[in-house]
Amino acid sequence: MTEPTAPTVSVLIDPDWASGSLVDDVRRGLGSRPLRLPPKWLYDDEGSRLFDEITRLPEYYPTEAERAVLAAHAGDVVAASGATTVVELGSGTSDKTRTLLDAFAAADRLRRFVPVDVSEQTLRDAADMLAERYPGLAVEAVVGDFTLHLQHLPANEPGERRLVAFLGGTIGNLYVEERAAFLGALADSLEPGDSLLLGTDLVKPADRLVAAYHDSQGITEQFVRNSLVVLNRELGADFDPGAFSYVPFWDGGLERMDLRLRADTPQHVRIPGADLEVDLGLGEEIQVEISSKFRPAGIRDELAAAGFETVELYTDPAGDFGVTLARLT
Ligand code: SAH
Ligand code: TRP
Repeated sequence: MTEPTAPTVSVLIDPDWASGSLVDDVRRGLGSRPLRLPPKWLYDDEGSRLFDEITRLPEYYPTEAERAVLAAHAGDVVAASGATTVVELGSGTSDKTRTLLDAFAAADRLRRFVPVDVSEQTLRDAADMLAERYPGLAVEAVVGDFTLHLQHLPANEPGERRLVAFLGGTIGNLYVEERAAFLGALADSLEPGDSLLLGTDLVKPADRLVAAYHDSQGITEQFVRNSLVVLNRELGADFDPGAFSYVPFWDGGLERMDLRLRADTPQHVRIPGADLEVDLGLGEEIQVEISSKFRPAGIRDELAAAGFETVELYTDPAGDFGVTLARLT
């Protein structure tokens, strides 16, 4: 039996959140109107734990829908990509990814797996689990930010191809212009012939979408509120998370879920670590997260604009979730 190879972990982000881009992001997001927080700050250890609970909620269909797509088509992806390295962006627990890695292992193709995430402990635990499960696979984890560090992805050996997996609909948490910048930077970091496997939640009736982000157990609400706890801890802010209501709604014009916290009373909030004070009026809202939903033609066009040719769009039988395999031309 092959002994598991210990994973390597390279850290590209500053381990002290408060000293780095959190301060910039908070100044930009809460220093002007509309008030907004960037999504990567949702995933501290508690946030990652709550997200893992979200993926098991009966109302939150995307995880199981995407898993079904991967289970049905992983073999096709292995064959069509011809990859020997898989990079996973925003990998989290890499739970669903095992379906894909199993198919690569069955074809005896995979040499290297590179999970990339800002959430260090979740990433380390996942890397250990994967190294254990796939003896002989080089697991090279990267604690990094996929909006900043794509140029540090491992290069191809001559003749090799990479597959970049970006699952969970996480691309939908970026704003349209950030999405274009992200896809452009990703294309710049890859070589022609490398592939992208992109998970996107699809447009569907509002009631199911709202239920997926407003679950009856209140887990999603806790997850969104946790962003204020992160600011209190990391920047010494004095947000009272209990003084906000959770307001998720479907924006049919922009085709995205819009997840906000609304001040129940007027509030004066101090954020010393960002050298900022914010006055919130009664009912004023902070946009904590968006989750855009997609249509097949839109996915194809956005990918094409960045230089990716769509090979196939796979969906689950109900047509809830799409996974696109695309190749850089
Ligand atoms: N891919 C998993 C997890 C999705 S949750 C799934 O499909 O279930 C989104 C993940 O992306 C979290 O683990 C979060 O820590 C990570 N993340 C969010 N913003 C990021 C960024 N800018 N750079 C790297 N990882 C990020
Ligand atoms: N990528 C996931 C999504 O857009 C992240 C997510 C799930 C999320 N539930 C959330 C983000 C609630 C913020 C709030 O579905």
